[in-house]
Amino acid sequence: MGSIVIYFSRAGQNYVNKEIKELKVGNTDIAAHLLEEQTGSDIFELKPVKPYSDNYRECVKEAVADMKSNARPELMSYPDNMEQYDTVYLAYPSYCGTMPMPVFTFLEKYDFTGKTIWPLCTNEGSGMGRSEDDIRKLCPGAIVKEGLSVHGAEAADAGPAIKAWLSREAE
Ligand SMILES: Cc1cc2nc3c(=O)[nH]c(=O)nc-3n(C[C@H](O)[C@H](O)[C@H](O)COP(=O)(O)O)c2cc1C
Repeated sequence: MGSIVIYFSRAGQNYVNKEIKELKVGNTDIAAHLLEEQTGSDIFELKPVKPYSDNYRECVKEAVADMKSNARPELMSYPDNMEQYDTVYLAYPSYCGTMPMPVFTFLEKYDFTGKTIWPLCTNEGSGMGRSEDDIRKLCPGAIVKEGLSVHGAEAADAGPAIKAWLSREAE
């Protein structure tokens, strides 16, 4: 059985260390590729049909609206043959203390019973927030490991923390 990194990330304007900055590659994208490298997994990006705005404030408005309406934004595509994977590394940014709603769309689409999910959350200070609880609710029967919180701006340096997390959890 194999493993796959599934991630959601958004390039464009973001709030980094209390300033708005333009990011060419999203923080979670960077962390997801480190995970791919370290675990030798396949990798798949979750892309909503209607992407969130590049503009930070607009994006926050859209994301909050999706959260309030408990939306399940449609995704452009889904990974094939999820049944071939017994391990899913799930990487996402914290949006209002949990995962962006397109990640909810993905998790609801499949049966994760018996699969192991490793949550990695990039954020500006909220840590994992409610995301691990939400994953457990959306994926009953899955084994959800204790997640890894990564400060967004330091995603490129997260290699050692990811390595330690993966080996700690393997014990
Ligand atoms: C809509 C929105 C909501 C956010 N909410 C939170 C939050 O609740 N807590 C937090 O620590 N960071 C929050 N952030 C910051 C992001 O989690 C952080 O910048 C993350 O690393 C972005 O990842 P990305 O570049 O892969 O999209 C939010 C950012 C956006 C755009």
